[in-house]
Amino acid sequence: MRQIAIMGFGTIGSGVFDVVNTNREILRKNLGEEIQIKHVLDLRDFPGHPVQAVLTHDVNVILEDPEVDVVVETMGGLEPAFTFVRRALEAGKCVATSNKELVAQHGTELLRVARENSVNFFFGASVGGGIPIIRPLLRSLCADDVEEITGILNGTTNYILTKMAQEGSSFEDALREAQDNGFAERKPEADVEGFDACRKIAILSSLMLGRRVDFADIPTEGITGITKEDFRYAAKLGWSIKLLASSRKENGHVYAMVAPGLVKPGHPLFAVCDVFNAIMVHGNMVDDVMFYGRGAGSHATASAVTADILCALRFRHQNVYAGWDAEKQALSDVGSWEKQFLVRAAGDASREEELARAFGQGILVDAGVDGEIGYLTPVISEEKFAEASAALGGVRGRIRVQA
Ligand code: HSE
Repeated sequence: MRQIAIMGFGTIGSGVFDVVNTNREILRKNLGEEIQIKHVLDLRDFPGHPVQAVLTHDVNVILEDPEVDVVVETMGGLEPAFTFVRRALEAGKCVATSNKELVAQHGTELLRVARENSVNFFFGASVGGGIPIIRPLLRSLCADDVEEITGILNGTTNYILTKMAQEGSSFEDALREAQDNGFAERKPEADVEGFDACRKIAILSSLMLGRRVDFADIPTEGITGITKEDFRYAAKLGWSIKLLASSRKENGHVYAMVAPGLVKPGHPLFAVCDVFNAIMVHGNMVDDVMFYGRGAGSHATASAVTADILCALRFRHQNVYAGWDAEKQALSDVGSWEKQFLVRAAGDASREEELARAFGQGILVDAGVDGEIGYLTPVISEEKFAEASAALGGVRGRIRVQA
């Protein structure tokens, strides 16, 4: 019998409680021993719920219990999660977390503390919820030079963009509907401004590169500027608009960015809709690999946390490499990153020559939007696009096109 503890009995913590109890026999077979939840830490009480029997309000009960091998952190946020996780690792306990903020901000330090104490800090649920992506990157794709990761890493924004595409809703209406249906938070900034996706791509980039990528270095645009008119162009082209989080090695550069992008039908991410997440990984040997599933939700995310619990129990006295080095990976200025753009300019088709002079030979796109014309540029650098765009005047919007 192996004992574990859960810190935080919210959506994901209660999901872990369910997974461990519902799949008790499957887990026992897999591990060769039974797993028992000995303590659950939360500020609240849950009268009438079976968790009440193992509930504690004092973290020291967990940290000072020598029988607890693995501590699950599902509290979210930076504090007190960071302090509690650090103390658990120092006390010789493995930690499994779903907390992307914690991993993006303090992952490097927590990996070091785990190493120094011959335990493990696992974070398989911090990106993509229930989608297996962290361990496949570390273990299954370890023979490849991973050259690109591009993902739809935020379910809230994908739901909003899907509503805008399918129902012609404005961003504000789609957000309100997402909030009413419980998909979006009442305070939606972290999702709609791209901050959540930024932290997740920072974690994946660190794994891809084997070095620490600072999320603060990643240029991030959310979806608040996406309009009904943008979707008119997407519909005209037969493409979709997604919030894409990308990390790419190209011509000696390492780029990363979070921004809305137009996705063509041939791309694996084209048809990923609603709250689903998907991550496309390109390796130099394996080519494209796609991971798809529920990027959030109680049981989906808890499934990934519980898989980490099993792994942590298997390697409970041995640190295994499951992260990145402390050395910082410098990211290149995205100004030199070359892409195609759809630019929306005031005026009509008579501006074609002017647009071609500004951006290079491209393709006019008339989506029937009053008083403006669209233009698909050739592949040019972000810097050249910004210069040409400023000099042109009358630019109403632009969206990058995913290659
Ligand atoms: N707010 C996140 C999302 C939850 O919408 O994807 C999962 O990290």
